[in-house]
Amino acid sequence: MAHSLNGKVVLVTGAAGGIGASVVKYLLGEDVKHIAMLDVAEEAGVALENELNSKYKDNKVTFIKCDVADKARLLEAFKIVKDSIGYIDLVINNAGIWDDTPESYEMEININLVSLITSSLHAWNTMHKEKDGKGGTIINFSSVVALSKTVNVPIYGATKIGVLKFSTSLGDEVHYSKSGVRVLSICFGLTDTPLLGNTQRLFDKTAEGPIEEDIDKFKLQRPESAAKAVIETYKQGASGSVWISTSDKPAFDVTNVYDKSIALFDDYVYN
Ligand SMILES: NC(=O)c1ccc[n+]([C@@H]2O[C@H](COP(=O)([O-])OP(=O)(O)OC[C@H]3O[C@@H](n4cnc5c(N)ncnc54)[C@H](O)[C@@H]3O)[C@@H](O)[C@H]2O)c1
Repeated sequence: MAHSLNGKVVLVTGAAGGIGASVVKYLLGEDVKHIAMLDVAEEAGVALENELNSKYKDNKVTFIKCDVADKARLLEAFKIVKDSIGYIDLVINNAGIWDDTPESYEMEININLVSLITSSLHAWNTMHKEKDGKGGTIINFSSVVALSKTVNVPIYGATKIGVLKFSTSLGDEVHYSKSGVRVLSICFGLTDTPLLGNTQRLFDKTAEGPIEEDIDKFKLQRPESAAKAVIETYKQGASGSVWISTSDKPAFDVTNVYDKSIALFDDYVYN
């Protein structure tokens, strides 16, 4: 049975721009109760909050300035939502950067992976049906670089493979049967957002040619297609499932392929 978004309270990280902002708009189309939009970009976040609250009644959107890499602030943002709305049903961990340079790679790991794990664990404990909660959903954003041999983004790629390993494990039936918290992963192909804007953020700048060839290989999709795929993943996804959203195509459940690819190693791992 499809899951419904109607009346749900949602927290989205990195929601002021790119795919996150588009997801917020599609969520409003599903008649959610409230959306907390967390982002470091205050001006864009407040502008989007104003735009959406004048379009939809009941002040359905709240912007909270929050750097997800600041753990105390991230947990405070969860508390603000819980104290004001009473519950959180869905957490979408979207905030991410692409910057494999020597100056910034640690920040990239912190934002893309460490903060996503902190946010997921906090959401999981908050919604866990044997603790304070009544179940819920976490959607974590990965990338096709986690599923393909792309060699030009080793650190970004490591964070996105980490997202998959973490999310498929936390979402496995062994945990889901007790927690009632679905954990879903979605891997986007190249999507037309500011994230792609600066190829100077490569770990090896002399490899600019190959990365542009890599980019040319993919069909760039619109952020709206990525957002629609997130909604579909929420509605249809079993806990621990892995979804793909590329080339403006509908979301596709690739869990079986992902599981088979991991199982290929069984003979070496277990014998
Ligand atoms: N665009 C793509 O081609 C693509 C492909 C695969 C995966 N993704 C993933 O999708 C997610 C969204 O990417 P996007 O393309 O929309 O990027 P984007 O740069 O367009 O938007 C990211 C948003 O996150 C916010 N943000 C950045 N650092 C933050 C922090 N520390 N705390 C809070 N907010 C922060 C930014 O201000 C921005 O609003 C990321 O996790 C990204 O890795 C994107």
